[in-house]
Amino acid sequence: MALQWYPGHMNKAKNQVQDRLKLVDVVIEIVDARIPFSSRNPMLDSIINNKKRVIILNKSDLADSTSSKKWQDYFESKGINTYIVDSKHSNNMNNLINNIKKEVAQKVEKYQKAGVKNYRIKAMCIGIPNVGKSTILNRFAGKNIAVTGNKPGVTKNQNWIKTKFDFDIIDTPGILWPKIEDEKIGLKLALTGAIKDSIFHADDVALFALDYFKKYYPDKLKKVYNLSDENLGYENPELLLFLTKKSGMKDDFDRMSEKIMMDIRKGVLGRYTLDQVDEVENAIN
Ligand code: G4P
Repeated sequence: MALQWYPGHMNKAKNQVQDRLKLVDVVIEIVDARIPFSSRNPMLDSIINNKKRVIILNKSDLADSTSSKKWQDYFESKGINTYIVDSKHSNNMNNLINNIKKEVAQKVEKYQKAGVKNYRIKAMCIGIPNVGKSTILNRFAGKNIAVTGNKPGVTKNQNWIKTKFDFDIIDTPGILWPKIEDEKIGLKLALTGAIKDSIFHADDVALFALDYFKKYYPDKLKKVYNLSDENLGYENPELLLFLTKKSGMKDDFDRMSEKIMMDIRKGVLGRYTLDQVDEVENAIN
């Protein structure tokens, strides 16, 4: 795989986050609920350090709800309040907002005691592209706003986004990527559409997907592709070829691979989570 974790870009992003961290009361970390581990940067915990933080497991409508609850319990066991959110279909952010406010209530009280009236909480949103950062920020702002976070280098100024609640959010232009060069993490990012399709071959992504779904969601595979238990016993490449032929694509397994990838991404196979709490040790350090 021709992929690098670009330490130069990463350092820049890290510095940008660290600079802005000084200006905020709380960090709102947004992850894709289907990949709560693989959509996080492993350095993030040390970067954020002791700053108050909440985690949003967004796109919960696409994720396996049992897994989302396990991830919520996991992160909360590490002391980070975690919220299961579907920002596409629900614009009710009140519960989330009230809880974010609770995180920083002590600080706000301190300011109020010191005579600062109407203190506006300052927050920073962090998340890799496609986790739904813009959707959530738009919900907070109550209107469509341009989020620069996905275009590294476009904005050099500090951009504060005013929300319709009593807090403001600073936009972070850099992206702290997960460890894409770890092949499993990369394949999970590819399968959910978080990284460009050109980074991995579709057949590698499809073979990974078949392997994972055989293990964790065999019934979904059987139902959607009309497979028997015997078919599920095939080795992954054999199963891919079988599916290719069965779908009338002759031996064009590239085309079938893309179909499998898109089916899973679009939720044709239903809800799924690609990171299992018990398989990931120390997701939070
Ligand atoms: P980003 O800023 O982090 O890059 O993400 P953005 O908000 O642009 O969202 C990326 C895609 O994910 C968008 O879909 C958006 O609608 C979708 N999305 C965001 N939050 C959720 C969620 O909670 N559930 C689901 N199912 N989807 C979510 P798109 O196809 O690029 O655009 P659109 O056609 O939906 O507008």
